[in-house]
Amino acid sequence: MRVLLHTGKGGVGKTTMALTTAFGAALHGHRVFVLSTDAAHSLGDALGMQLGSGPKEVAPGVTVQELSVLDELDDAWSVIQQWLDAFLRGERASRSASGDAPEGEEEMVAEELLAFPGLEELISLRAIRRVEQTGDYDVCVVDCAPTGATLRLLRFPDVLHFFMENVFEWKRRTMRMVRPFAKAVHADRFLPSDEVFAAIERLYQDIADVRQILLDADRTSARLVVNPARVVVDETRRSFAYLSLYGVATDAVLVNRVLPDAASSGYFSRWAERQREELGEIERSFPVPRYVMPLKQGEPIGPDALTALSRELFGDADPAGFFSRSRPIRLRKDAAATVLEIDLPNVREDEVRVVSAGRDLVVHVRDAQRLISLPDSITGRPLEDVALRDGVLEVSFAP
Ligand SMILES: Nc1ncnc2c1ncn2[C@@H]1O[C@H](COP(=O)(O)OP(=O)(O)OP(=O)(O)O)[C@@H](O)[C@H]1O
Ligand SMILES: [Mg+2]
Repeated sequence: MRVLLHTGKGGVGKTTMALTTAFGAALHGHRVFVLSTDAAHSLGDALGMQLGSGPKEVAPGVTVQELSVLDELDDAWSVIQQWLDAFLRGERASRSASGDAPEGEEEMVAEELLAFPGLEELISLRAIRRVEQTGDYDVCVVDCAPTGATLRLLRFPDVLHFFMENVFEWKRRTMRMVRPFAKAVHADRFLPSDEVFAAIERLYQDIADVRQILLDADRTSARLVVNPARVVVDETRRSFAYLSLYGVATDAVLVNRVLPDAASSGYFSRWAERQREELGEIERSFPVPRYVMPLKQGEPIGPDALTALSRELFGDADPAGFFSRSRPIRLRKDAAATVLEIDLPNVREDEVRVVSAGRDLVVHVRDAQRLISLPDSITGRPLEDVALRDGVLEVSFAP
């Protein structure tokens, strides 16, 4: 099943473009499911229909669903939350009892997990797997939350991974030994119970599954929706690089709300001119095809209007196809070295820092960081060179 994620800055037209893509894919004979994972749903508004929380077929070949976060966030998360809370309180209490040791990394990670804003959306994305398991759909179009939240959710698996490897595994190994002693000194309430272990394991597995779908460039592509306006273009350039850093392939940019030629004289002429500059900027910034949608005279609402939009936007092209095919993170071997390449367009060399951490590589780009697990063939090899060339970060490992 093909998966198309639509994201971009708030209000740029993500929902409209997601539905336009869905109706266009249906014209090409695909059976399409549209999922909204943004807590502030607006599929119903854009369709001009009342939607419940279940799936609804809104036109031949197009089924939509606005996921209810409450249904998706099951008991597992509240069990984990309570334990994380107790864990943090316990750590703080023992720290103040033993003097003023600084806050440890485990604690910071536990805090980050607790306060994690993208978690709900990530958990909602489990629905992609449910849609796939029905076997009834060829394409799943996802209307995501604005980019900020989506990018944070991509980082979540890293945080959870760290937590699992460093805290959870250690606790699991030592717990059998520790629990009797802990009980004796009444400290066992900080140790995770079997119920907590089971809940953490389930969440971890679910998130690993979602991650596997999101990072599979053979079926999943992100489509960034952008408007020709300076602040939107700037944010979208950063998003493109971050998506790539987290391993999500963007195969096209959908440029929405472009003023038509009719606006080039009169009141809107200055706007039209500013837009032309930004369109040039968009062309230079994104190394993928662009599809352009003019600003319409009214809001495109309902299946007919959205189907018309899809013909205008994609022409004869099938929007469920791949508009470009590249793996944002890849390994290249040559005689001298093995090179890990990451597409990072619009990023400057001084904004990147690469640190080797045993089996993992930590790549910092501005305020984002990614933990990349290295394949066995290069783990333990010293970093030879790190360079940014033509929008591609090249990390070379000595033979
Ligand atoms: N090309 C267009 N021409 C005219 N109106 C448009 C166009 N694209 C979107 N709109 C309108 O702009 C408004 C915002 O669009 P939409 O809801 O798709 O944005 P969004 O990015 O999903 O917003 P949010 O961040 O709130 O989810 C809607 O009223 C929609 O009908
Ligand atoms: Mg929306």
